[in-house]
Amino acid sequence: MSDEAQLEARLEEQDTFDPPEAFVEQANVSDEGIYKEFEENWPEAWERAADLLTWESEWEEVLDDENEPFYEWFVDGELNAAANCVDRHLDGRGDEAAIEWVGELGETRTYTYEQLHREVNEFAAALRETGVGEDDIVTLYMPMIPELPVAMLACARIGAPHSVVFAGFSADALAERMNAADSETLVTCDGYYRRGDALDHLSKAREGLADVDGDVTTIVADRLGDDADSDIADDEHVYAELVADHEGATVEPVTRDAEDMLFLMYTSGTTGKPKGVKHTTGGYLSYAAWTSHAVLDIKPEDTYWCSADIGWITGHSYIVYGPLALGTTTVMYEGTPDYPEKDRLWEIVEEHEVTQLYTAPTAIRAFMKWGPEYPDAHDLSSLRLLGTVGEPINPRAWKWYYKHIGNESCPVVDTWWQTETGGMMITTLPALGTMKPGSAGPPLPGVSADIVDAGGDPVEAGKAGYLVVNKPWPGMLRTLYDNDERFIDEYWREYSLPERDQWVYCPEDGAKLDDDGYITVLGRVDDVLNVSGHRLGTMEIESAIVGVEGVAEAAVVGGDHEMKGEAVYAYAITEDEQDETDAFREEIIAAVEDAIGPIARPEAVVFTPELPKTRSGKIMRRLLEDIANGDDIGNTSTLRNPDVVDDIQEKVE
Ligand code: WT7
Repeated sequence: MSDEAQLEARLEEQDTFDPPEAFVEQANVSDEGIYKEFEENWPEAWERAADLLTWESEWEEVLDDENEPFYEWFVDGELNAAANCVDRHLDGRGDEAAIEWVGELGETRTYTYEQLHREVNEFAAALRETGVGEDDIVTLYMPMIPELPVAMLACARIGAPHSVVFAGFSADALAERMNAADSETLVTCDGYYRRGDALDHLSKAREGLADVDGDVTTIVADRLGDDADSDIADDEHVYAELVADHEGATVEPVTRDAEDMLFLMYTSGTTGKPKGVKHTTGGYLSYAAWTSHAVLDIKPEDTYWCSADIGWITGHSYIVYGPLALGTTTVMYEGTPDYPEKDRLWEIVEEHEVTQLYTAPTAIRAFMKWGPEYPDAHDLSSLRLLGTVGEPINPRAWKWYYKHIGNESCPVVDTWWQTETGGMMITTLPALGTMKPGSAGPPLPGVSADIVDAGGDPVEAGKAGYLVVNKPWPGMLRTLYDNDERFIDEYWREYSLPERDQWVYCPEDGAKLDDDGYITVLGRVDDVLNVSGHRLGTMEIESAIVGVEGVAEAAVVGGDHEMKGEAVYAYAITEDEQDETDAFREEIIAAVEDAIGPIARPEAVVFTPELPKTRSGKIMRRLLEDIANGDDIGNTSTLRNPDVVDDIQEKVE
């Protein structure tokens, strides 16, 4: 066997990995006692997180749990998030890079903390002048351009919560989110580059605005220059002009209560309507900073890179708020990993001497497929830590990442969390936990999780059950915007077990507990799909499909997909007079793209005369999933219409 093959074989067999010695020696958190400290001193131990921030006035109480599950953290504390992410670093790190932006065309833009401070102030002044007041919700519909984090921080500075809508979402999705949040200010841009092409974004924004109630102020950043499809209109403000008009302006950071909303983030649930997850200024920011410190091991002198999009929670917590709260340099990349070549990420790591990389399993699977020659061609020795998030990572991908990107000398943290949790919940601490590929690890210190059955009783080790979180944590969502009732319904159960007399949080994930206390997350147990780490509601997709004239009924399920993890499979029943043509299939696909965006594009649309239903009339989704995956169909005797299974299987083939 060659050396290389021997190494592969050894890696193949190895199930656990210890944190590398050199990493442990320099880690932010390397004292095993941290778990005990949080256990014995809960909830006060959470002050460790809050102490990473600068407060205008100290909290009176760490946790107020009077009104479960409406918990409050760092009660009566006051602070401003932008002051924490920018101003307080000016003294020591004013000339150091806060944001290193890499454009898809290869250009770079660096914002020192000084420059970031300047532009955040100028844009904050501009927002105020256009009429944005404290607590007004500002929608940011922007791709990965520096104006996005600047706008987020400008909003935070004036106490106006932002609601970032992922740029890949459709016009309809934008309108729905703006209406739901009663948002009357939109910051967007003319477009952005994807694989070298200039994409028009402004038309999509305008199309969405046509369906927004109320009088909206629109601000447009210029990314494309002469490549833009259309000019910015007279009734739209130009971002750069607003900033220039406020050159040198300073805006005092508005004092916010710890529990004041920092931002809203819409995410998919089981119903057709996205949920407006509310995060707070004190608890969320403390949590983002603490997990960035303890799990990502971020230090001010690092150049840290999270390759997510800021349009999702990962980017909020781990491109913007966590890293900037710690005063480090955060890298922001506009483009795709395979443009112009498949070594783009490794080129950036080498050039910017990136110290930590945080990415998603779907990306790692793509790197694996492309082959090790791409990372091998670059010097990646600056890397000290690797992280993954978004979906379960299969051991093969984990090991590939560990070996080919981390050179077997970086710990890999597999971090389980959600939009709702604000930050990481389950993962090894990089200097403390033995790593077990495929298993996220134990809950973080101070986080308490269990695996239970449908009645709330803990299940035996090794058996699958529902993941629940037993105690509140500072980064938790506080409610769903304007909908306390749905917040309780969707997330909280009050189990009447004697040992569990408090409310438990239900993330809707299946998981199993290993003998060593590690948690292996299995995936969603509700009707939410995880496509390339993006969260999509089946109901949202279904309602787009039944909206197409000629469709009578639809069911959407997730099928296994080698690269994406899951892919969207749509089953549709057509009206009698509707022909089941490819053109009609395309029409359905286009309707999904219009309602949500290209990320929700069905992999397949299957026309079927009926959907498999139980006697009580419920669609048997499991069965549709089995069909999509080509798996054996189990017992169909509970079906009202068992014959339909053969029909559908035939169609799929
Ligand atoms: C869902 C949350 C958290 C930011 C990205 C997604 C799945 C997330 C992991 C992981 C297994 C994971 C869960 C979760 N998930 N991280 N490390 N291992 N599954 O945020 O869009 O709110 O989705 O992503 O199913 O519930 P999100």
